[in-house]
Amino acid sequence: MEPKVRMGQQAAVYSHARPSGEGEIVLSVRDLAVEYKAKRGAVKAVRSATFDLYKGESLALIGESGSGKTTLALALVRLLVRMARISDGEVLYYRDGKATDVLALNNQQMRSFRWQECAMVFQAAQNSFNPVLRIAEQFADTARAHALNDRAEIDRRARDLLRRVQLDPERVLRSYPHELSGGMRQRVLIALALLLNPQIVILDEPTTALDILTQRNVIDVLNNLRKQLNFSVIFVSHDLAMAAELADRVATMYAGRIIEIGDVFDIFQNPRHPYTYGLMKAAPTLHDNVHETFSIAGSPPDLIDLPSGCKFHPRCEFCKEPQCTTEDPPLFDVGPRHGAACWYWQEVKQAAEADKADRLAQPDIADVAATAGTTEKVG
Ligand SMILES: Nc1ncnc2c1ncn2[C@@H]1O[C@H](COP(=O)(O)OP(=O)(O)O)[C@@H](O)[C@H]1O
Ligand code: SF4
Ligand SMILES: [Mg+2]
Repeated sequence: MEPKVRMGQQAAVYSHARPSGEGEIVLSVRDLAVEYKAKRGAVKAVRSATFDLYKGESLALIGESGSGKTTLALALVRLLVRMARISDGEVLYYRDGKATDVLALNNQQMRSFRWQECAMVFQAAQNSFNPVLRIAEQFADTARAHALNDRAEIDRRARDLLRRVQLDPERVLRSYPHELSGGMRQRVLIALALLLNPQIVILDEPTTALDILTQRNVIDVLNNLRKQLNFSVIFVSHDLAMAAELADRVATMYAGRIIEIGDVFDIFQNPRHPYTYGLMKAAPTLHDNVHETFSIAGSPPDLIDLPSGCKFHPRCEFCKEPQCTTEDPPLFDVGPRHGAACWYWQEVKQAAEADKADRLAQPDIADVAATAGTTEKVG
């Protein structure tokens, strides 16, 4: 069960990314890097991504648009487009004590891995149904593609899952996709993703196209299901309020890298990276219908020609020369199960603490923080 440990600066990562006695690891990602080929050069979309996923937990990947969330999610199930390549790193998957090197699987092994071990519900997943097939056929097709031909068993499992996502199996199985509402289709997709009993479900902005009430309903359904069936979730979101509700842990991405990772409460209440800190200061209330939440000063860096040193330095109010402009910080242990890639995280800590009383007095932040605090820990 031991993931390969590399030496060097990653040593700082392991103590918080893999706490002892904290449960079973199902996925272990180390130094993962993904590049897209472009005319101007290589787009470094994911750099040095390192994290562990525990059985039954929900990990949210947050970060502004273009920070590499989708690319990282796609790389984990190797569904990247042709122009992309995984240029470095390791992805180990564990089931029943057996490790699988995901990046070494052949295409056929990868296809079964994708549904049986790690299923993915895409961004704009609403369009991923075949419009001319009834839902029952979509379940049967998925099962057949994985050599499951026992119609009765597939039907039983489909009905069970549909009931668990609070849908009426009779009605839904007979329907065509267009006969269902967006929220229903989204719940069918979650049921479909679980058909082959994967240990991990990756959801990329699964509720973005839905109205706020439907989003909440889908989130509730997903959370309940996770508690019943004990699978793990990687949940990609640019929506902090949703991450606060759905996640046990949160990883913040910036310019392709996980720059902070920790329990949801710590990320919202005790951010230690200036970028996360900035996001939390700018977070809107859960009751606003404002779901574009990433509004900190400056713009994201050019991923072909990244800044020297810390990639956040051109936007960072804590930046100090020369260290920040010349050396990219490792992910430091900044608290229990909490890592942040900032040379000056102690100063961020002081600022955040000085600020905390004020922030909590603001109803907006108190809302998000309170939600984060009530999220049940599973991992
Ligand atoms: N097919 C592609 N070709 C070239 N660059 C891409 C492609 N897809 C994504 N990128 C670039 O990779 C970076 C990360 O994108 P993405 O993973 O979609 O981020 P996010 O999901 O956080 O919005 C972006 O800068 C984007 O421009
Ligand atoms: S390392 Fe420096 S530039 Fe980077 S986030 Fe920390 S203070 Fe800011
Ligand atoms: Mg995306």
